[in-house]
Amino acid sequence: MTVLVLGGAGYIGSHAVDQLINQEYQVAVIDNLLTGHQEAIHSKARFYQGDIRDKEFVRSVFAQESIEGVIHFAASSIVGESVEDPLKYFNNNVSGTEIVLEVMHEFEVKSIVFSSTAATYGEPEDNPITEMTPTNPKNPYGESKLMMEKMMRWCDEAYGIKFVALRYFNVAGAKTDASIGEDHHPETHLIPIILEVALGQRDQLAIFGDDYNTEDGTCVRDYVHIEDLIDAHILAFEYLKAGNPSNIFNLGSNSGYSVKQMLEAAREVTGKEIPAEVAPRRAGDPSTLVAASDKAQKVLGWQPQYTDVKKIIETAWNWHANRPNGYQE
Ligand code: UFG
Repeated sequence: MTVLVLGGAGYIGSHAVDQLINQEYQVAVIDNLLTGHQEAIHSKARFYQGDIRDKEFVRSVFAQESIEGVIHFAASSIVGESVEDPLKYFNNNVSGTEIVLEVMHEFEVKSIVFSSTAATYGEPEDNPITEMTPTNPKNPYGESKLMMEKMMRWCDEAYGIKFVALRYFNVAGAKTDASIGEDHHPETHLIPIILEVALGQRDQLAIFGDDYNTEDGTCVRDYVHIEDLIDAHILAFEYLKAGNPSNIFNLGSNSGYSVKQMLEAAREVTGKEIPAEVAPRRAGDPSTLVAASDKAQKVLGWQPQYTDVKKIIETAWNWHANRPNGYQE
């Protein structure tokens, strides 16, 4: 039986494929390679290039493979872009997922684990955020992920398709051996940008706002290592296989770090100066997002290994220093 990974050439998907194969799963990958990298896909995975919005294509993959479940990472995920172009997000994320669910229903595939996001919560006043915190997305990206969750809920009721939605906080780092890692164009995420400054590829870091209601005035986020994050997906996949009900889990570390703290940590890890300057706030940034991940630990038995943010940055640094141009070389 095969695990079908949608978006398996992307940053998070490629780490999932790698870990699944290392744990002896049979893996098939669908990716349209619009933002993913073919080189990132483990050579033992069977790769089908195409788009999840193309129903005939998706059907053809389900017809060729004996699929026991789906892990779904295929989505657009840039908050700012989603505000500029919401229909891109409703099309790719919501319509794409709807097609996947139609085909799953047709082929009687009954389990799906998928990427949701902290952005479904919007800007909650209380941290840490639990799964009981009300959802209130503030941008089309978060809204599209919440719509995906809701669609899944009704498909569970009607067709018995079980799902686990994993609401990620800030995913970071790379595989420990630095063979795969994060490579986005354009890059918008804090850690890779800091490391590009460390490598001399950018002049300085722009710190987006230092007048937030936090200890040092910069935004606080909860960083979770990519390999820990993928462990949770595999546990969730096994949880559904064991016949458990649909569920939603936060994935974070229960601790928050400010932008300035991240910068300091990166300076220590890299030994580089990393110039930085305070810039205006970035539209739509919540001040603090920290996850309570107790539920994933309790129900799934998830045990994140990377509890030190410097270790997370170190794995990202190994990747970026090793592959300064990412997969382009
Ligand atoms: N930041 C800077 N300078 C930069 C880049 C980022 O100061 O050049 C700051 C941001 O303002 C933010 C923090 O660093 O306070 C983290 O920013 P990221 O862009 O790395 O991550 P976000 O917290 O904005 O986004 C993450 C995920 C999204 C998800 C969102 C939920 O990457 O997919 O959390 O709010 F939608």
